[in-house]
Amino acid sequence: MTDATSHAAEASAQSRLYRSRLDRLWKRGRDFLGTRTAVMGGAMSWVSERHLVSAISNAGGFGVLACGSMAPDQLAAEIAGTKALTDKPFGVNVINMHPALDQLIDVCREQGVGHVVVAGGLPSAATLRRIKDGGAKAMAFAPTLTAGRRLAKHGADALVIEGTEAGGHIGPVSTTVLAQEILPDLREVPVFVAGGIGRGETILSYLELGAAGVQVGTRFVCATECVAHPNFKQAFIRASARDAQPSVQIDPRFPVIPVRALANEASKRFMEFQRDIIAKVDSGIMSRDEGMLEIEHFWAGALRRAVIEGDVENGSLMAGQSVGLVTREQPVADILAELIAQAESALARRAMDAASLDLMAEPTVGAL
Ligand SMILES: Cc1cc2nc3c(=O)[nH]c(=O)nc-3n(C[C@H](O)[C@H](O)[C@H](O)COP(=O)(O)O)c2cc1C
Repeated sequence: MTDATSHAAEASAQSRLYRSRLDRLWKRGRDFLGTRTAVMGGAMSWVSERHLVSAISNAGGFGVLACGSMAPDQLAAEIAGTKALTDKPFGVNVINMHPALDQLIDVCREQGVGHVVVAGGLPSAATLRRIKDGGAKAMAFAPTLTAGRRLAKHGADALVIEGTEAGGHIGPVSTTVLAQEILPDLREVPVFVAGGIGRGETILSYLELGAAGVQVGTRFVCATECVAHPNFKQAFIRASARDAQPSVQIDPRFPVIPVRALANEASKRFMEFQRDIIAKVDSGIMSRDEGMLEIEHFWAGALRRAVIEGDVENGSLMAGQSVGLVTREQPVADILAELIAQAESALARRAMDAASLDLMAEPTVGAL
């Protein structure tokens, strides 16, 4: 064997070693999802349709279809379309306040979907039961440790904790703090961490803290397989972390649900719009309820406008802070491979550090 071939053989044995260590760390998540890696592709309305979802599942991750505001028959068609593109497991994300929530869950049952993720609020025990009665595993988002415990008690089979760094609708607490608050204590069900994840080393650190796996959204938007408009992808590639800002509420009487998106003309206009509406209410031209409804409707259809039509100035560019780590369009398989390689190199560096500490600890003859 030449030096080069023996080095190559050693390198591949090392890589297998760190891969099996990583596999052990996310075993609970892989078993739960039925996948090669415990990386969920976070559902993104308009973005996570059949192409991106099947590409993530085919590459060894777990794609999740975003139902968003789809009607039950549209969801049925999208699930069938996804099944035509992959024979690997994938999930469906439904919004808790969707008026046809029960029918959407029934569609998932009819289509044999294995995992249903409920977003947009805490699902009731009845909703979780309906999902499980249909034979699927039920997942929900836990904003606190107490809520997580309650969801697990009410039947959630797994939880997602999502920090404020994430794209889309966000809570107030950072991913690192949520992870430290919840992961060491909530062991009843697998917990997946989301928000701000752009590199494999970060995945590793959450797994070591007790996560079963992770959920990644923003990093997958510029996947080659993603159908988002080229303008939407270009906006992600150009943006830095600080461009992904939460929407601002300017008056507590008119609540605004915080959404993290890239700042653009629409986000600037939203501030002026709120001011105009509030002035109209204060001067009696408009009722408070009408004002609230106007503010609520400002963003209606805005995500579609940006993702599908490519209107990146007047649409909503929902994106997480990890957008700064999105630098080019890449196939899903490459994104996943990159994340795994980064996690494995971090494991290798730790092993090397541990070995050098062992060497330092060993007494030398001269020292005796
Ligand atoms: C464009 C976009 C749309 C999103 N739409 C949804 C959605 O419909 N339902 C949902 O539960 N989460 C949604 N999210 C959140 C993602 O599923 C995921 O949890 C989040 O992106 C993870 O954080 P990251 O962006 O930092 O990776 C969306 C995120 C983005 C960027």
